[in-house]
This record gives sequence, structure tokens and C-alpha cells, in this order.
Amino acid sequence: EKGGYDYFMLKEIQEQPAAVADTLRGHLVDGRIVLDEQRLTDQDLRDVDKVFVVACGSAYHSGLLAKYAIEHWTRLPVEVELASEFRYRDPVLGRSTLVVAISQSGETADTLEAVRHAKEQKAKVLAICNTNGSQIPREADAVLYTRAGPEIGVASTKAFLAQLTANYLLGLALAQARGTKYTDEVVREFAELEAMPDAVARVLETVEPVRALARELKDSRAVLFLGRHVGYPVALEGALKLKELAYMHAEGFAAGELKHGPIALIEEGLPVIVVMPSPKGRALLHSKMVSNIREIQARGARTVVIAEEGDETVRPFADHLIEIPAVSTLLQPLVSTVPLQVFAAELAQARGYDVDKPRNLAKSVTVE
Ligand code: F6R
Repeated sequence: EKGGYDYFMLKEIQEQPAAVADTLRGHLVDGRIVLDEQRLTDQDLRDVDKVFVVACGSAYHSGLLAKYAIEHWTRLPVEVELASEFRYRDPVLGRSTLVVAISQSGETADTLEAVRHAKEQKAKVLAICNTNGSQIPREADAVLYTRAGPEIGVASTKAFLAQLTANYLLGLALAQARGTKYTDEVVREFAELEAMPDAVARVLETVEPVRALARELKDSRAVLFLGRHVGYPVALEGALKLKELAYMHAEGFAAGELKHGPIALIEEGLPVIVVMPSPKGRALLHSKMVSNIREIQARGARTVVIAEEGDETVRPFADHLIEIPAVSTLLQPLVSTVPLQVFAAELAQARGYDVDKPRNLAKSVTVE
């Protein structure tokens, strides 16, 4: 049942193109984005004036990424919060607030309690969930299912990419409801999403050097991850994967924050993985990141750079270069996350750990 792989996680990483494709399927009907379940009126969706995303762990990172797309496409303010913090700080919620709960299992206690709190405060709740019939979608007013299929590996991989996909669908649905995107734009964005499974498959075909690098770095004391804009939550996700699977100190930073403290951590030989923005799509950010990499390389860091194919400016500063296909900026996390998953899984295996069942972790966390 592991399809020839030693671990479910490795199989699930390979299943990501299908997870993305299946999550998109059937959601564009006559030029309109449709949800799976909608116990809300179209007017309710139009009336939304504020979005909160609540989730835990990797699902939270997918939520951080949702903010970039939803705000850009809808001009609605989006706040993203850890579900375990949300209801304890009296968030401002009302009838026109949309609370988006993202959960693979649909049973995470913190997220479920956040949903209940939101409903008590009369907010509308939309669930993005991978498990049909689980508690969170049952209690929600609307549902978008991620169709990643059952995820057995404790560390989330294909469910994460499916969550990103569903988040984009939600962004487009809200944009359409509010009139911030016309049908032709929505159709165009959807077509771009439909091209992503192939892009993810291409990344998967080229990850062998990432695996070799992971084995080489297996005895590192720590690994830092840097990103900016959508690369920042990707860096957080890369670090979480490494902590969970390889039990290694790993931390993700916003590259712009380096000089505000974290650069003090840089020492000779420390691996730093950098997720680069597109040199064309985000030229200014790109040049700032190049200076960041120069700085850390000058201080002895071993730089591992994930960059768009053909990005030549970054090459001189990359001790190791990992190329990903050029895709539009907001969708880049779908491709940039994949090498980080492979890196963590391979490094953990090189250290002799069971990547399907990392110590101390459970697949669904049903206690607060
Ligand atoms: C990370 C991971 C966890 C989950 C988190 C939320 O690889 O698997 O951080 O993402 O526990 O779980 P769900 O999505 O089931 O609510």
C-alpha cells in the first residue's frame, strides 16, 4: 500500500500533483468558482468585510499564504491566527466576518474550538478540510474540500499543497462574489492553477540533488530558512518539517528581519536555505534577497538557494542551487515547498528516523 516506497510520506510527496489537480476539479462551472457545500447565501459572501484564518501547524502556514492571495484578489483585510490563540484574546467578530478554518483532519481540537467561538459570535465559518464528514466541516456554514486523499504520514505534505490550492479557490470565489475580479480574470487564474500539477511534477523529477544535499548536511547542528513575501511562510513550513522529522533545530525567518537579530546566529558552515522570489515578478524583493544572501555567505553560512530556473544573478552566492519552474508569484509556494519537504524527509532518513511516525507527534490532535 506504500506503492513501492519505504514510507507513506515519500509516496504522499509524489502524489502532490494529483492532490492539486483533484482539489481544483469541478470548481469552475460556467466561469464561476463553486464551493463544495454552501449553507450561506451569495449575499452573505458579498457582505463579508473581514476574513480571519484559523489553523494549526502546517495548516496555519497555508493560512499565512492564503492572506497574500485573498487580500490581493479581493481587497478584503485578512488576519491569520493560530487557532490555539484565537479565542483567548477576544477577537472582533460579527455577522460580516468570515472565519476560515483550515484542517487536514477536521478534528483538531484547537481549530474546532476556534470555529465554535466564531459561531457564538455570529461570524460565518468556512472550512477547508481534507476529511469528509469530520467535525469541523460539519459545524461550518460552507466547505471546500481538499482532495488530497488520506494522508497517513504524520507530517503534512500533500494535504498542505491541497490546502494552498483550496485557499486560492476561496480567494477567487470571494473576489467574484465581491466583483473585484471579472469572469475572464477568474477563468485565467483558474487555468494557471490547472497548470500547477505539471509544475509540481517537474520539481519532483529534479529533486535528486536535494536528497544528496540532505544526506550531506545530516550532521548539521541547525538549519535556518529564509524567505520574503510568500517565501516567508514557505520558510516557516520548511523549518517545521525539519523539526518534526529530523528533530533538528530549524527556524524560518523573514529575510528582512535578518539584520534585526537573527544574523547573529550565522556562523561558519551553518546551512541556510533561502527561498528566492522571482527575479522578474518581484525584482525589488529579489535584489534585496540577493544582498541578504551575500551578507550571510560573507559570514560563513553555507547557502542553499531555491530559485527560479534561469535566475543567474543568484548563482554566484549559492553554494547549492535548487531550481524551480517559473510560475506566478502568488502560486510559487506550490513549487517552492516541495524541495523543502524532500529535504526534511531525506535528512531524517539519513539520521535513521521513521518519517511516518516522528516521535511525540500524533496525526490528529484532538485535545487542546
Ligand atoms: C505538520 C503537521 C501538523 C498539522 C497540525 C494541524 O506537518 O502535520 O502541524 O498541520 O497539527 O492538523 P490539521 O490540519 O489536521 O488540523
